[in-house]
Amino acid sequence: MIDSLITDFINLYGDNDSEIKKFFSPSRINIIGEHIDYLGGKVFPCAIEIGTYGIARKNDDNLIRLASKNMDLKGEISLDELVYKDENDWMNYPVGVVKYIEEEGNNIGGLDILIYGNIPNGSGLSSSSSLELLIGEIVNVFYNDGKIDKLDLVKIGKRTENEFIGVNTGIMDQFIIGLGKKDHAMLIDTNSLDYEYYNFDLKDNKIVILNTNKRRELKDSKYNERRSECDKALEILKKHKEGIENICDLGKDDLHLLEHIEEENIRNRAMHAIMENIRVKKAAVALEKGDIEELGKLLVESNDSLRDLYEVTGPHLDAITKYSNEFQGCLGARMTGAGFGGCGIAIVKEDMVDEFIDYVSPKYEKETGIRAEFISSNVGNGVAEIS
Ligand code: GLA
Repeated sequence: MIDSLITDFINLYGDNDSEIKKFFSPSRINIIGEHIDYLGGKVFPCAIEIGTYGIARKNDDNLIRLASKNMDLKGEISLDELVYKDENDWMNYPVGVVKYIEEEGNNIGGLDILIYGNIPNGSGLSSSSSLELLIGEIVNVFYNDGKIDKLDLVKIGKRTENEFIGVNTGIMDQFIIGLGKKDHAMLIDTNSLDYEYYNFDLKDNKIVILNTNKRRELKDSKYNERRSECDKALEILKKHKEGIENICDLGKDDLHLLEHIEEENIRNRAMHAIMENIRVKKAAVALEKGDIEELGKLLVESNDSLRDLYEVTGPHLDAITKYSNEFQGCLGARMTGAGFGGCGIAIVKEDMVDEFIDYVSPKYEKETGIRAEFISSNVGNGVAEIS
């Protein structure tokens, strides 16, 4: 595959003496800790082995040339004009990353880049963060001797999403894509940015990714609305507990404070955040102990809360998680990522995965009129140059 990408690269940009390098930036799933990475909570994602490949070479033309095997649109961006343009569509992500890399005092320069991604489109597996980190690492390797700290690239990716694209996302996706580790989940404290790797051993079970094939458009979604609802909740809670900076600073003993929030939906959002943060800590303990049954139960609780309290699931995710959780050999299933369509995950007995798919697939299709896709992927490394 990589060889054919290099052939495509040369066909597109021509051959010369400058060195061609190859990169891979993963996609991610989040095991648990949903919609709390912008509330100072803990999250527990993994990088997976599908993602975005990049073939790149320096040029002396002061241009970033971009093309993708997945998109028709390609283009040339002048390094003197790193600005958002609607017509640049997907290329706005690379443009933003390059702009902020420079703004933060690093080197940039001309590059020819060809991209190929095997993340299902609009699936909520974070193709945009995967692209951001890919471009960040390409610029890092070619123009900064690989010396930009990965955490700085993570922050640049997030900044691109927030300031350049205009979606107020948290830091989870860029974090795991930048720093993920093969066969490990990562417990990230989104407040302190401390992190810890956990051996991702599900014993005789497997993660199955459940793609609803219902496209999720983050920009159009209620994501920003949820954030402002949480700001509202925090504003009220701060009046009743001194010294809190984030909703996730609150624990079980503080739940009575929610009484002060009059609007039910705002109260529910805060309740989800506090309880989800508690579940993440329990999930990390369960995984460490090898108690996969318990982990599965926590996934189901998380999903119920995202459906009923945070209200970010929608009919497609609800259908696929409902049928998954009905199946005997499924330890737990829930939505993953932003929600509103996109993907779920399920922990399924390894020897029952085919049966699981045969059970869920027709029921889901009958209910929604859409055929789901079931993806299995190993837990992989974060973004890197590859050989
Ligand atoms: C998207 C965002 C993340 C996070 C999740 C929900 O993937 O990019 O920052 O908020 O949604 O947990």
